Amino acid sequence: MRRKFISAAVLASVLLSGCSEKSGTSGGTISSSETGSVGSSQSTQSVKTTQSSQSSKSGAPTVIAPNFQGSSWQNAGQNSSSTIPETPDEPSVSETPGETSSNTVPNTPTVPSDMFNKVSVNKGETIMIADQLHVESGTLYSVEGDMIVDDGASLVVDDGGYLSISGKLVISDAGEFVISEGGCLAMTNDNAVIEGGCIRMETDFGRLSCEHGTITSQIIPPERKVVDGVTTVGGVVIANKAIKLPPEYGSHLSLNEVEPQVYEALVEMNNDAVHEYINKSGYRSYYDQVAIFQNYCDMYGYEEADTFSSHAGHSEHQTGLTMDLDSFSESYGATPEGIWLAENCWRYGFIIRYPKGKEDITGYTYEPWHVRWLGKSTAKLVFDSGLTLEEFLNVEGGWTVID
Ligand code: DAL
Ligand code: ZN
Repeated sequence: MRRKFISAAVLASVLLSGCSEKSGTSGGTISSSETGSVGSSQSTQSVKTTQSSQSSKSGAPTVIAPNFQGSSWQNAGQNSSSTIPETPDEPSVSETPGETSSNTVPNTPTVPSDMFNKVSVNKGETIMIADQLHVESGTLYSVEGDMIVDDGASLVVDDGGYLSISGKLVISDAGEFVISEGGCLAMTNDNAVIEGGCIRMETDFGRLSCEHGTITSQIIPPERKVVDGVTTVGGVVIANKAIKLPPEYGSHLSLNEVEPQVYEALVEMNNDAVHEYINKSGYRSYYDQVAIFQNYCDMYGYEEADTFSSHAGHSEHQTGLTMDLDSFSESYGATPEGIWLAENCWRYGFIIRYPKGKEDITGYTYEPWHVRWLGKSTAKLVFDSGLTLEEFLNVEGGWTVID
C-alpha cells in the first residue's frame, strides 16, 4: 500500500524541502579478604571472594579487591601496556534540550592509560567468581580466557573500571553482572562472548561497547532520567506517543538535517550497500510537526492521522537522530533495498523503529523507511533482542498520546 500522504502543500514545503538531497550533500546534517584457591598452573581456577560488611552506593555490592599474589592473573600495575578499550560510539545524553552537545559528545570515560592496573585472565584459563568481584576504578580487566559468574556471585564493573572481554564471560542464572555508572565494558573482538543470566546496566549504553562479539544475556536497562523535560534511558533519548520532547529540543538543527554522526552513518551504509539510501526527511521541529499533523488531520481525519503521524513534541524526527529513507510506502519493506535495510541497518547504528506487528507497542503503523540511529553497539543489542525500542528500554509506548 502506498502511503496516502506527501501530496499536500504543507508537506511539500515542510517535508519535501530536502528530499532531492543526495546523501553526502548536507554536511553535518546528518577481596583482599579473598581466599584464593588459585594456582597458576591450573587451567581452571576458583576465586573465592568474601563479602565485605560495607555496602556501597545504591545497594551495589561492596568493593572487594582480588588477591593477585600467587595468581596467574597478571597485575601489571602502572607499567601496564594495556590498551584502553575502544571508544564506544554511542550517543551521549543532552542534559539541556537544544544543546548542540546533544548526541555529539562521546560519552567515554577519560582515564589516562598510565593510571591503569591491568589484570588478565589469560587464554586457556578459566576464572570462577564464587562471591563478589569488582573491577575497581583505574583497573582494566582483560579477559582473554573464560570467566564464570557462579550462582549467587556477582561481577561488578565499578565507576572508572574497565572490563575488556575477548574471551567468554558466562553468567549463571542466579549470578549477576553489573556495569555501574561510570564503568565500561568493551568486547574487543568477534570471538568475545557474554552468555547467560543478565547484564544490569546502571550506566549509559555508551559504556557498553559490543560492536564486536556476541551477547546473549538479557540486558536490563538503567532507570530513566528526565532532565529539562527530556527523557532518556541509558543515554538514549525517547520520543513516542507516551513520552514527549520539549518544544525547543533539537532547534540547533535545520529542517531535514540530522546530527553529524547520523549523517556519517548514512554515508558509511551507502558505501557498503548496493543501493544508495536517500534521506527524505530528517529533523523536524516541534512547529514543523504541528503543521504536518494538522495537515494530515485535514486530509484523513484525526483518528487515521494519529496512526501514522506524531503530535508535536512526540515525533522522533525532533531528535535529529531519525531519517525517513527513500519511500513512504509500506511495500518498500518488501523491496530488495527495504529488506537489506531491515537486515543490515544495525551494522551502521540504525534500527527500523516501527516494525510490522509491533504497532500496539510503538503506537505507529509499520514504517519500513523510518530508521533511528542509536550507535552501532546499542543498535546491535536492540536488533539481536528482536524487541522494539520501547521494550528494550522498558518504557511505555502504545497508541494513547500523553501530553
Ligand atoms: N511518522 C512518524 C511516526 C512521525 O510522524 O514522527
Ligand atoms: Zn519518520
